[in-house]
Amino acid sequence: MIRALAFALLVAASPARAEEATGHAQQQHAEPVGPSEGDLELGRHLSSECVACHQISGKWLGAVPPIVGYAPPAFVEAMLQYKTKLRTNETMRTVAEVLSDEEIKALAAYFGSVKPQP
Ligand code: HEC
Repeated sequence: MIRALAFALLVAASPARAEEATGHAQQQHAEPVGPSEGDLELGRHLSSECVACHQISGKWLGAVPPIVGYAPPAFVEAMLQYKTKLRTNETMRTVAEVLSDEEIKALAAYFGSVKPQP
């Protein structure tokens, strides 16, 4: 009786586990081959901080410029300019200075892949 119950539980639990396993595998396979070497998934993850100010639609919001649809090299350059104070915006310097080159490349790949809305 107990063994039967345990078996039933095992069977009930396994589809979820299988799904989890494939979900994981899919994520690994979905490794993007983007316009730059930036990691698209990492960029998507990091972008949540940015879209508190920047509109994902690609529209201006007050003084906050759009950052979607940029060619990744231009995006990376802008971020590095904030980081190295070549551009003097205090807000963006604070944002950029804690990002690694890899994270900046990832953000460039992600935002570069987003199309501005017409
Ligand atoms: C607190 C609001 C805020 C947050 C959060 C923020 N930004 Fe900005 N960002 C701005 C403002 C304001 C400007 C315009 C600064 C200037 O005049 O140089 C800007 C400018 C930029 C530019 C330059 C755009 C251009 O056309 O010159 C890039 C690229 C950028 N941000 C990327 C990011 C990324 C990537 C993140 C997230 C990691 C981020 N920003 C987070 C407010 C923000």
